[in-house]
Amino acid sequence: MPLEPEIAAYYEQDRERDRLSSGTGRLEFLRTWELLSARLPDPPATILDVGGAAGVYAVPLAERGYEVRLVDPVPLLVEQARAAGADAIVGDARALAAGHASVDVVLMLGPLYHLTERPERVAALREAARVLRPGGLLAAVGISRFAPTCDGLVEGFLHDPEFEAIVERGLADGQHRNPTAHPRWFTTAYLHRPDDLRDEVAEAGFETEGPIAVEGPGQFLADVDDWLDDPARREVLLRAIRRVESDPSFAGATGHMLVFGRA
Ligand SMILES: C[S@@+](CC[C@H](N)C(=O)[O-])C[C@H]1O[C@@H](n2cnc3c(N)ncnc32)[C@H](O)[C@@H]1O
Repeated sequence: MPLEPEIAAYYEQDRERDRLSSGTGRLEFLRTWELLSARLPDPPATILDVGGAAGVYAVPLAERGYEVRLVDPVPLLVEQARAAGADAIVGDARALAAGHASVDVVLMLGPLYHLTERPERVAALREAARVLRPGGLLAAVGISRFAPTCDGLVEGFLHDPEFEAIVERGLADGQHRNPTAHPRWFTTAYLHRPDDLRDEVAEAGFETEGPIAVEGPGQFLADVDDWLDDPARREVLLRAIRRVESDPSFAGATGHMLVFGRA
């Protein structure tokens, strides 16, 4: 199950180590962390972080007392995760090395949007169901169908007709491609509508919660670091997001959406 070469090349640019440390990435991390923290079992419990990249979640989860194993198909990211102190192996979400009913939590905060066909995503989710103990927790992330439109405005990419063509294709069928190989534009992915992701998780046999907006309205702030640096403003922002995080009429207006599943 080789990874598409353009996806591997995108991640070999070495952006994952710092991606979540500033701007909307920082908000993505904070919000994902709070949504996970509210649902994870108490440590010690076993967590499989599938598509865990350079260990941005695996390392602090292990520091909290969880037994965490990271799996990622990109060897550079696995090396970086190991260097950061994670237990990490090269692998693919569709064929996990873990045994049947052997883990308490599976994180899929990345692989699903790089599996561009629905049967591959459902196969990966069924693998998660196979390795989870009964009652175990799945956290599955999708990128919103509308994320390139929002990013394209905030970052100014939409001034470029090539980016506009990428956005139009993605809006039509969810298939995001970057034929220009522009290094700052995202690589091959499937962009979910909120209901698609919930239905895929349900089809794999899970009871679902969500979709929950991760960044929600915070997605649109150009000065998100200023909000997060000031404790009072940060709480105003987080409360504003939490208030609308589960509202179906708002669910697509976020960079990332999270669906939880119970095995
Ligand atoms: C944007 S990164 C997200 C990393 C991290 N989980 C996070 O939330 O910040 C997407 C990750 O999914 C991984 N990935 C892509 N295809 C995958 C597959 N088939 N199986 C497992 N992981 C995959 C990539 O190598 C990359 O590390």
